[in-house]
Amino acid sequence: QIESKITDLMAKMTLDEKIGQLNQYSGDWEVTGPVTNKGNKLQDVKDGKIGSMLNIRGYEHTRALQEAAMQSRLKIPLLFGQDVIHGYRVTFPIPLAEAASWDMTAIQKSARVAATEASASGIHWTFAPMVDLSRDPRWGRVMEGAGEDPYLGSMIAKARVTGFQGEGLGHTDAVMACVKHFAAYGAAIGGRDYNSVDMSLQTLWQYYLPPFKAALDAGAATFMNSFNTLNGIPATGNSYLQRDILKGKWNFTGFVVSDWGSIGEMVPHGYAANNYEAADFAIHAGSDMDMESRSYINHLAALVHNGKVNIALIDDAVRRILRKKYELGLFDDPYRFSNAACEKKTLNKPEFQEAARDVARKSIVLLKNQNQLLPLAKQTKSIALIGPLVKAESDMKGFWSVEWQNQDHIVSLFEGMQKQAGNTKLVYAQGCDVTDTSKANFAEAIKAAQSADVVVMAVGERANMSGESKSRANIHLPGVQEDLIKAIQATGKPVIVLVMAGRPLVFNWTADHVPAIVYTWWLGSEGGNAIADVLYGKYNPSGKLPMTFPQTEGQIPVYYNYLNTGRPAQDNAVSNYSSGYIDLTKKPKYAFGYGLSYTTFEYSNLKLSQDSLHNSDQLKVSFTLKNTGKYAGEEVAQLYLRDVVAQPVRPVKELKDFQKVMLQPNESKTITFVINKDKLSFYNDNLDWVSQPGMFDLFIGSASDDVRLQKSFKLID
Ligand code: IFM
Repeated sequence: QIESKITDLMAKMTLDEKIGQLNQYSGDWEVTGPVTNKGNKLQDVKDGKIGSMLNIRGYEHTRALQEAAMQSRLKIPLLFGQDVIHGYRVTFPIPLAEAASWDMTAIQKSARVAATEASASGIHWTFAPMVDLSRDPRWGRVMEGAGEDPYLGSMIAKARVTGFQGEGLGHTDAVMACVKHFAAYGAAIGGRDYNSVDMSLQTLWQYYLPPFKAALDAGAATFMNSFNTLNGIPATGNSYLQRDILKGKWNFTGFVVSDWGSIGEMVPHGYAANNYEAADFAIHAGSDMDMESRSYINHLAALVHNGKVNIALIDDAVRRILRKKYELGLFDDPYRFSNAACEKKTLNKPEFQEAARDVARKSIVLLKNQNQLLPLAKQTKSIALIGPLVKAESDMKGFWSVEWQNQDHIVSLFEGMQKQAGNTKLVYAQGCDVTDTSKANFAEAIKAAQSADVVVMAVGERANMSGESKSRANIHLPGVQEDLIKAIQATGKPVIVLVMAGRPLVFNWTADHVPAIVYTWWLGSEGGNAIADVLYGKYNPSGKLPMTFPQTEGQIPVYYNYLNTGRPAQDNAVSNYSSGYIDLTKKPKYAFGYGLSYTTFEYSNLKLSQDSLHNSDQLKVSFTLKNTGKYAGEEVAQLYLRDVVAQPVRPVKELKDFQKVMLQPNESKTITFVINKDKLSFYNDNLDWVSQPGMFDLFIGSASDDVRLQKSFKLID
């Protein structure tokens, strides 16, 4: 029925009205609201020259613009898009932090809350989830993704799409997901944002595409293409990606929006001579909507008149966009998302803040805890809170948070600790700022440390040091922060270091000398409460790293699922004539999947249902997981496989499944995983999804480098 309505509507549309649907402008948000009058955007809406706007939010503004759209000849409603990346009004942890929770229910809930708030505030469409896999922590946008692994990334992509789209488009609390950036953006050479990508198609299919496919299978309504070239072709003008894979092999019926200006950027890429040619390439390649490059609005009509672009291409793009507007119910009621009462009663609900605190606690990763320094002992009389980020508030929200002009309360570490300190005295000293090069204020911090029983230090990056366009060549702790840690450690007081950052950082001295280290990322509005919950033992940390932490930048790209090579280097030794370094081991500082708990877990009794399997069989893997410590806690039990001999060669280890399990002290559970043919398959050099007979090693463990149980089995045919 929708299709015939679209056909009827399109029959009435002029070429210019059709091209208008493919055009998206930004509202250029300023302090008091969107600046839609700039460049006559308001008039363009009334003239039917704009199909969608981004950066317009809130009942009042979306309503006003939709009213303008209703003055256009055919009254086609606008779509309002916004980067709702980790929360809308209530800010959730940055996506990389949430990925560290390995908790699909919590991640889905985070997206659900964000969608509920955003849709109540007039938004139809979020530019999320970002599912770009990345092996390079220099790239600032790792904060926005799910890390380095295609399996974990696919599970998270599914959870986020399901959360955003809820019970489906048409429900007023659902927003359209936009899976981005298609494709391979996370492999930008040198970790430099917007940089070129050069990779084999096998690597593309094996590692970089699976999270996109998982998001698509979860029903994602839209895709965004990316800024990078892939093997010399800009993603925006890439027919192989958009037409052959996405709209062809994968049969995607939604639409593709370009990234901001990326159609026009085909000119500086050196792919198109001018925006006229760029528009031609982009529409042929399957980019349906032009975000802010104005190439479509300025050139598509001429391209049609000059016989370069067949109207059928434009019709297809228009149909895809109108389909979503119909599915959202905007033709029945263009204002159904712009409702003052709904916005007022929905935003910032206490239950949303509670959900943000829950996932924030789950995102925290305990990296080190010598002599059970954590949780803090009840009898601690005084704590010195030292470091540039102890009182961080807006930073706590992380990059890509939606701005609310400081209307919202963000819980800093200091405030979170104060709320739970009871009779414990808290002393504060900043010591230095994040990028300070001077040690002038160290003395005051040392004094504070000397006066306390325990020191908690908060160091790291500022929130705007990771994110779009925030590539860093040096990912060590910035400024003199590590010197401050050394000075405080020298006081002899027990020191706990919290690292707040949007990416894996390097802090080797701290890692080797300080007894307790907690990686908190940026946790959102409830960050301080969540950290205090962990430090005081109200919550036992359960996060596991979704990305490998290098010892130094020279190891990058560093990731757990590498190929063995013909001359594998020892993990713990510098190498000679083997595939390592002569000046450093190849071992990372912290491995993918690593994270401690206040309790301990024992893995035992591994059983396989059979030693060999045929292609159609299922192999059941079971083992016992026991909590052997004093605290109740959750463990993420991880299953890795290695295809020992294959053509082409396969990685030393690949994550194939995991379970997050809650256990009381002394409690045991039998954990079962099922291995089927799909888990043994990979892309061969013809890009066929195949499995090959032979031996497989199976590893069960607490991290990619902490294997507790191991067996082999054979695939027979
Ligand atoms: O959604 C983003 C994208 O990830 C980067 N460029 C701008 C877009 C819209 O804000």
